[in-house]
Amino acid sequence: MLARFSRAVARLPSTGILGCTGARFKHTLPDLPYDYNALEPYISAEIMKIHHSKHHATYTNNLNAVEEKLAEALAKNDVSSVIALQPALKFNGGGYLNHSIFWENMSPNGGGDPSGDLLEQINKDFGSVDNMRKQLSAITTAIQGSGWGWLGYNQSTNKLQIATCANQDPLQASAGLVPLFGIDVWEHAYYLQYKNVRPDYVNAIWNVANWKDVESRFQKARSS
Ligand SMILES: [Fe+2]
Repeated sequence: MLARFSRAVARLPSTGILGCTGARFKHTLPDLPYDYNALEPYISAEIMKIHHSKHHATYTNNLNAVEEKLAEALAKNDVSSVIALQPALKFNGGGYLNHSIFWENMSPNGGGDPSGDLLEQINKDFGSVDNMRKQLSAITTAIQGSGWGWLGYNQSTNKLQIATCANQDPLQASAGLVPLFGIDVWEHAYYLQYKNVRPDYVNAIWNVANWKDVESRFQKARSS
């Protein structure tokens, strides 16, 4: 079963303030590309179910609500309201985007090491896959509060970089890096299984890392 990421459903209001502005698009919660229990024992089915069906669903619904308000504010040329909506747009839009990548970054057939061009680039930029893993694990584990650790691609320097983002700040919009592989360290991502031992969760993630997906994102990022 393939994920339906970024599937957009056209909504055509016949009346109301958006009536003459054309179609508006509504984001939908993407399906997981595997069952809720598929990543066990590394991530429990209970975590996956709540994380996807509650948390990601909420970001998706809230993003739609914010975009609706934004469209209304823009239609009224209400600059003050447009500005006031930006934090909610960043938070919910980031949550929607980050989790959409996260599900695909993992696979029940994941783990091991990357190969091909991605392996070559990791070796070039970090010395070895182990070094990259160690650096990303360390910086992600050390995030204060909630956030994400990322392996990203810098299209200006043509290099891989690791970075962290607070809250749901999306990597590309916040740091200018194309997101390739993300680790969610909000407590909702691990607490039911790992309690306060975040390092064990971060180390476990590597067992389900979907290098095929990461490689595909890498190839797309460096060719665009
Ligand atoms: Fe999350």
